[in-house]
Amino acid sequence: MKVSALVLAAGIGTRMKSSTPKVLHTILGKPMICYILDTVESLGVSDVAVVVGHGAADVRRTLGEKYHYIPQPSQLGTGDAVMKARTTFEDKPGYLLVLCGDTPLLKKETLDSLISLAEKESPSAVMLTAKVPDPSGYGRILRDSWGNIKGVVEERDCQVEEKMINEVNTGVYLFSITDLWQALEKITPDNDQHEYYLTDVISILHDQKKSILSVKSNDLEEYRGINNRWHLAQIAADMLEERIRDLCLDGVTIIDPKSTYIESDVTIGEDTTIHPNSYLSGKITIGKNCNIGPFVYLIGDDKGITIEDNVSVGPFVRMRPPVEVKENAKIGCFIDLKKSIIGKGSKVPHLSYIGDTEMGEDVNIGAGTITCNYDGVNKHKTKIGNRVFTGSDTMLVAPIELGDDSYTGAGSVVTKSVEPGDLAIERSEVRVVKGWGKRKNAQKQANKNG
Ligand code: UD1
Ligand code: MG
Repeated sequence: MKVSALVLAAGIGTRMKSSTPKVLHTILGKPMICYILDTVESLGVSDVAVVVGHGAADVRRTLGEKYHYIPQPSQLGTGDAVMKARTTFEDKPGYLLVLCGDTPLLKKETLDSLISLAEKESPSAVMLTAKVPDPSGYGRILRDSWGNIKGVVEERDCQVEEKMINEVNTGVYLFSITDLWQALEKITPDNDQHEYYLTDVISILHDQKKSILSVKSNDLEEYRGINNRWHLAQIAADMLEERIRDLCLDGVTIIDPKSTYIESDVTIGEDTTIHPNSYLSGKITIGKNCNIGPFVYLIGDDKGITIEDNVSVGPFVRMRPPVEVKENAKIGCFIDLKKSIIGKGSKVPHLSYIGDTEMGEDVNIGAGTITCNYDGVNKHKTKIGNRVFTGSDTMLVAPIELGDDSYTGAGSVVTKSVEPGDLAIERSEVRVVKGWGKRKNAQKQANKNG
């Protein structure tokens, strides 16, 4: 049975109070609409279209060319939104899964059960409904005396007794494609909101004696939609907890889940420990047996951060991509690392900024060493060979190259490249003033006594 999918995402999302389209607000670093799209993809559905309206260009740019985009210039209702997709799906056989872009928690298994029911019974529609303690805000499911679904009534159009119905429409449907269009043609905006309601299709199909089946969700959460930023924050917190639990079950030690933030694109190897107050965002790959944190701020973005096995990072480290830290290296504490490669076994242990740098193996970076990569206009590169040792407080003025086995003296401002095996030292002579301290202290004592 062929199944296509349509995700409705044209609504403005007024309650988000945002210039960003609602469906692009992120959860664990991923736009919320991507969750439902990934779930649809996991079902093996190939033709997926997104109805876009508010912020259409942004949505398209963010999601890329993997989907069909169907513009809905004015939001005349869910029925109108689906109608706009007619030309895209009209000739396709089988069923159309209709979903909303703001329900990230919906499970694959649930959608699978709608599809299996359609496969078995070939109905005109399958709806996902739910019995809830508080149905307010949802469309209510109307059933006839046989218990068959005969319609959906929106809360604002409900009669008093209909308001008491506690079976609600979750907004998840699977329609037989041919039956859908001919029913949609008949809907009118004859309701309190003067909108074209997709839900009116249900009573039309019922009147045509077509069969409408339902799957009942027994999870009160999974179809929960996000309407404001408090919903967003709560769902994000739940997903974070789940993510951290999964990582723990996969062999990662997370000392304090409550102060740890790990986005969905982060992978972490076995026996790695994440210490409290670690913020891991974007694309990050961490190997086995690493120690990350406490107090690290790793921003992988799209370019990515890769940390190989047996690396320690922190406390107090910031990284910006692209960064590669090879095995057995040590970064921290108080280190800012940007766009750099740190070679195998190299150490950047204290108070450094390393940017636009390629560093070899077994390097020791002295405390306070800084790559001066920016001249106010351009960024320049630093290349550090194998087994280099920089003295504390070395300023490496880029562009610069330190050859293998070279050294720099503590406190040097190094403006020239250093050949392999050489020492660069930039320092004025130390002047020793004989007995100065002794005289100073005698003076202090005299002042105190006098
Ligand atoms: C809808 C259902 C309601 C159900 C509820 C579940 C209708 C008429 N009602 O109501 O029975 O209980 O979902 O959450 O369908 N959208 C568009 N274009 C439009 C209008 C909406 O793309 O013109 C999109 C929205 O962006 C959103 C989705 O459709 O993703 C649902 O729209 P919304 O306005 O939230 O419908 P509800 O009033 O919640
Ligand atoms: Mg809604």
